[in-house]
Amino acid sequence: MKLKTTLKSLLCCAGMAAPFLTVCAAGPHEFEAGKGAFLLDGKPFLIRAGELHYARIPREYWDHRIKMTKALGMNTICMYLFWNYHEPEMDQFDFEGEKDFVEFVKLIQENGMYCILRPGPYSCAEWEMGGLPWWLLKKNDLKIRTFKDELFRERAKKWLAEVGKRLAPYQIQNGGPIILVQVENEYACFGNDGSYMEGIRDTLRESGFDKVTLMRCDWGSNFDSYRVDGVTPCINFGAGSNVDREFDKLKRERPDAPLMCSEYWTGWFDHWGKPHETRGVESFIGSLKDMLDRNISFSLYMAHGGTTFAHWGGANSPPYSSMVASYDYNAPITEAGWTTDKFFAVRNLLKNYMNDGETLAEVPAQNPVMELPDQPVGKGVPLLAREPLEVRTFNREDLDWKEFGSNFLMTMERCDLGYGMILYGTKLSPSESGLKLRMTGVHDFAHVYVDGKPLDKTVDRRLNQDTVQLPEFDKAVRLDILVENNGRVNYGEAIMDRKGITKTVELLDSSGRVVREISGDHGGSVFLWQIFTFPYEYEFMKAAAKRGSRRSASPIVEGGPVLYTETVNVPEPADTFLDMSTFGKGMVWLNGRNLGRYWMIGPQQTLYVPGCWLKKGENELLILDTMPTESPVLKWRREPVLDRIQSDLSLKHRKPGQELDLSGETPAIRGTLPNAEGWQTVRFDKPVTGRYLCLEALSEQGGSRTMTSAAELIAFDADGRDISRLKWTIVYADSEETDRENNSAENLIDQQESTFWHSEWSSRPTNLPHQVVIDMGEPHTVGGFRILPRTDRNTNGRIRDFRFFVKENPFKF
Ligand code: GLA
Ligand code: CA
Repeated sequence: MKLKTTLKSLLCCAGMAAPFLTVCAAGPHEFEAGKGAFLLDGKPFLIRAGELHYARIPREYWDHRIKMTKALGMNTICMYLFWNYHEPEMDQFDFEGEKDFVEFVKLIQENGMYCILRPGPYSCAEWEMGGLPWWLLKKNDLKIRTFKDELFRERAKKWLAEVGKRLAPYQIQNGGPIILVQVENEYACFGNDGSYMEGIRDTLRESGFDKVTLMRCDWGSNFDSYRVDGVTPCINFGAGSNVDREFDKLKRERPDAPLMCSEYWTGWFDHWGKPHETRGVESFIGSLKDMLDRNISFSLYMAHGGTTFAHWGGANSPPYSSMVASYDYNAPITEAGWTTDKFFAVRNLLKNYMNDGETLAEVPAQNPVMELPDQPVGKGVPLLAREPLEVRTFNREDLDWKEFGSNFLMTMERCDLGYGMILYGTKLSPSESGLKLRMTGVHDFAHVYVDGKPLDKTVDRRLNQDTVQLPEFDKAVRLDILVENNGRVNYGEAIMDRKGITKTVELLDSSGRVVREISGDHGGSVFLWQIFTFPYEYEFMKAAAKRGSRRSASPIVEGGPVLYTETVNVPEPADTFLDMSTFGKGMVWLNGRNLGRYWMIGPQQTLYVPGCWLKKGENELLILDTMPTESPVLKWRREPVLDRIQSDLSLKHRKPGQELDLSGETPAIRGTLPNAEGWQTVRFDKPVTGRYLCLEALSEQGGSRTMTSAAELIAFDADGRDISRLKWTIVYADSEETDRENNSAENLIDQQESTFWHSEWSSRPTNLPHQVVIDMGEPHTVGGFRILPRTDRNTNGRIRDFRFFVKENPFKF
């Protein structure tokens, strides 16, 4: 059968015609970056790619999603390889089953499509640590994305060598479908060391990618911040961008380069606790048409996003903000592989751009969906349950608790755990009753138990929380702190994101004075901390569920995390969505496969359940809930719910009634911005030192009385050097749209040019002026700032007159 398909794709070559070649992927071919165009066998070739991540699609559905992308009108599949997915422990490589990317590449070819390969070593993609393996973090002074760190360099080389062994034979020059291989990923967003990019380039060549054309992706605004020869620069940008402006600099500096948008963002990703992201069809289609009219190659990121199963979701920072399980992305093809308005809009547009003899492929049938009756779950068993305490096992092989004694706080990595939870236990003396407990560097979510009872308050890194009030006690008590890893940062300066409690644990009195630091290394022969680790692994959780249900087991905390084991009867397997909105926060395993994270705060309320992972008859569901609720019910739905956020006022940067008082403050500058796209620079007459910034918009370019918007804000020092935004937080925003769209003020400092702050517009618009106050975390001498207006097609809210303040002390409210 495979032979037949290859034959078919060979035959389709017959109909090829100028100016662009039709799809045809069999046999050795030439492919190169020519002058102003990519050339396939010497003839101009327009790449119409759609991105798919095999790691986010069940293997049984790979072929379906490739066919869907072809029916969307694409001739190429663009794909990342996530290093950490394939090397979970150092030197333990896994390329089998769901991880068999060679099979995926073969399927691309069998479908008569080409392939763009993006093997990293860094990928971003809202994937844990951007695809880097957690175990690198075991090295204390690790540096990443540089060849100056020996461990990183050697391991990255090893990884790329493993990739080369398997995929170099599939370069187009060898008869495979791979037309381009990407060097690293958006490196300019992280550094400017061209020698590192040369190192990755050379490593790819040494790994067997000796003939294929190499490319790189960056932004129109920063691609020139480093140099690497022999690698075609491509540009990423979002739905609705101004295409001419995005390629403007590239065209000037590299007049011969073929133009390609290597990631045209069809939608955007969702964070826990923030509104669902969407990007409108019209503006999205507009810029796509602009590219087609200009013969600019493109790759739709994502054509189909799929699902971030298990613990593979990443996070952005600052502020820390972790990713939901669905990677639907508001893409043309939904998480479950369905068509959308966007899908048909793309297809209809592309109809007019087909080459002679080329036709759009038929749209494959949608996979069947089903619902099942609601099912209340039985009693959960405690996760933190042990056999009588004397009985202790120390080996991971026994699938029992892994226990450490320590005089200092160890991170998860130090305890040899990549993905999971960690429990820190210690003793408090009666004299410490009623104190405050401050935990700094909680990565990412802590539950505190005193003598086995949970405190009401948890510590959530997303909200910059760190302190809880301890209850009164009159005898020595046990303190337990359970910390969840909610996903390592995948983007920006903060990627090196160790888990557990990464800094200190202190006891404070009511005046905030430190009474005792429990975390310092106290030496001595008695361990201060008893530490246990809990991997997010099915076998571990299954064993824990069994142990928790045994009579002899006693929970060390009552009301802590629970595990539910449920049997689900399925008459006929089909795709479905599991509504977890009556549960708290955790993960679900179906027949041993991890469906991903759920959290009642939304916006995602349903987990995608691929029918191919269900069996006819009895199926096992194992559910971990770290914040158990009263009477949870499993609800099986035909439709996903990805946009129901539990309104959480704490996510707004303004307390009810809070009013910023700028009277008596002197602005560092008052001015008028030009009515223009792109970065605008504002220099102060003289530098001002301070820790707090306030941007106040006084008027809008279009004359709107209510709207203010801006995509990014950066301050620079007296020498014009950008100040790192790693420690920045939004203190206040008088108005933010967070209902209809995610236009939070945090978007001003999230280092993403395609996201923006917008004052409220959907329900409660208020009049200008609008202000945002930022705490830089420490004082800086500020010479001025750079601001980027929103980059989609819309100019609503573009700031005209403004004031900008820099202050040593906090602003008055
Ligand atoms: C960048 C990265 C991608 C992805 C997108 C946002 O372009 O290269 O991996 O993270 O941002 O979805
Ligand atoms: Ca932004």
